[in-house]
Amino acid sequence: MKKLDILIVGGGMITHDLLLPSIYHLQRTGVAGNIKICALDSAPLKTLKSNKEILTSFPGQDFEALPSVSEPEVNKYPELFKNAIAGMKPRQIVVVAMPDQLHYPVIIEALKNDQHVLCVKPLVLKYEQAHEIEEKALEKGLFIGIEYHKRFDRRSLMAKRAYELQHFGEFVMGEAKLIEPYYYRSSNFQNWFTCDKTDPFVYIGCHYVDLVYFITGLKPVEVSVAGIKGKFPNGNEGYMWANGRIRFENDALLSVINGLGYPDQAAGSNEQNLQMFFEGNGKSGMLKHNDQFRGVEHSYLEDSGSAGSHFKYINPDFYKVVPWEGEGYKPVGYGYDSVAAIINMACQIENEVNDLPGNESLLKRRELIRQVDKKGIIATPGNSYINELVVEAARISILNDGKNIGINYGENPSVMFCKENK
Ligand SMILES: NC(=O)c1ccc[n+]([C@@H]2O[C@H](COP(=O)([O-])OP(=O)(O)OC[C@H]3O[C@@H](n4cnc5c(N)ncnc54)[C@H](O)[C@@H]3O)[C@@H](O)[C@H]2O)c1
Repeated sequence: MKKLDILIVGGGMITHDLLLPSIYHLQRTGVAGNIKICALDSAPLKTLKSNKEILTSFPGQDFEALPSVSEPEVNKYPELFKNAIAGMKPRQIVVVAMPDQLHYPVIIEALKNDQHVLCVKPLVLKYEQAHEIEEKALEKGLFIGIEYHKRFDRRSLMAKRAYELQHFGEFVMGEAKLIEPYYYRSSNFQNWFTCDKTDPFVYIGCHYVDLVYFITGLKPVEVSVAGIKGKFPNGNEGYMWANGRIRFENDALLSVINGLGYPDQAAGSNEQNLQMFFEGNGKSGMLKHNDQFRGVEHSYLEDSGSAGSHFKYINPDFYKVVPWEGEGYKPVGYGYDSVAAIINMACQIENEVNDLPGNESLLKRRELIRQVDKKGIIATPGNSYINELVVEAARISILNDGKNIGINYGENPSVMFCKENK
């Protein structure tokens, strides 16, 4: 089997917590080739190289750091990713793990240089950009997978199937919550999570909007998000809390609350859940997911992890490294499943066209990409563009004190202020 080399652009929290360990495991199982990570400066790359859990889980595995870890941390390399991408063989994989507003230029650079892409959510912050990416990628037969890992949680997959089989009825009213820890305010977030760039709804609320769309297939048509501002330790102002309401095409309503404020002392490690109600014929259906407390409690002698609590609710479902038959530890959970599904898909596409001449290969890659779009399990620009419309509408709404923003799905989908606002 042909392996694909991987360049991760961005060496922050998501790379540390999910992407690098998952990709190391895929390297170990023969899917990923060489791994490089490009960051703005050497600091996060040093942290990744010295992380104890990663070192003990993946003995003997390493990545090439760009810039080198011997570079002084004060030196910044905002354009280095361009050289790194240009230096790759064609049709390998660029993993985009930068702050939300920087996804677009990295994806465009990757496509320009003939690379498949795994992008963390949200793909981009504007529908037009998502559409442009979809067209450019299809034109060149390049696969783009967006890492919405909640789709790969078994409870989401089960709910999707049950909804399709009409076991619940029609979605009518729902409530979702995702509150990240307070300590996020002291992280690198304070440098980019500012009011003008993003907010808690765009950052994490989009997971649950995507999930309701994933389960029901219903498109959101109206978005209103109100936010509460606060100051980060470095003085930057950001939205610390957000409260969103989404209306779907069948008039169903979903409310979503988000924030950077789950207590560091609490057992969490965050708060998250989803409840949906459905109308049936003379009765109703319901779905309730407790995505925070999944029935596992640990109390450690010493504090472990960054949140400072000794007693913890453990989530065995998202991402953990566990003993396995091989050396070190292996990653398990829907976080790993999601990364693996996207990397494996790019690899599968390349392996299917391995022996085909240029034009035939291009046509086959396009056909395979369209199949993934249609299947709707891995999020792609073609099947999850509702998310960019929601994010775009949400940004306008939160910057306008929660005004209702409509989404129009005509030939050229767009967002606009709703009539009652005028
Ligand atoms: N649940 C999820 O799916 C999930 C969870 C966390 C983060 N994310 C997404 O991952 C992305 C990154 O989030 P994070 O928490 O890792 O952020 P972070 O602030 O911890 O890390 C950002 C990284 O980007 C790098 N970077 C910034 N500018 C760069 C440049 N010009 N060239 C190269 N590297 C550059 C920085 O060096 C840093 O390593 C965001 O889009 C976020 O929404 C998704």
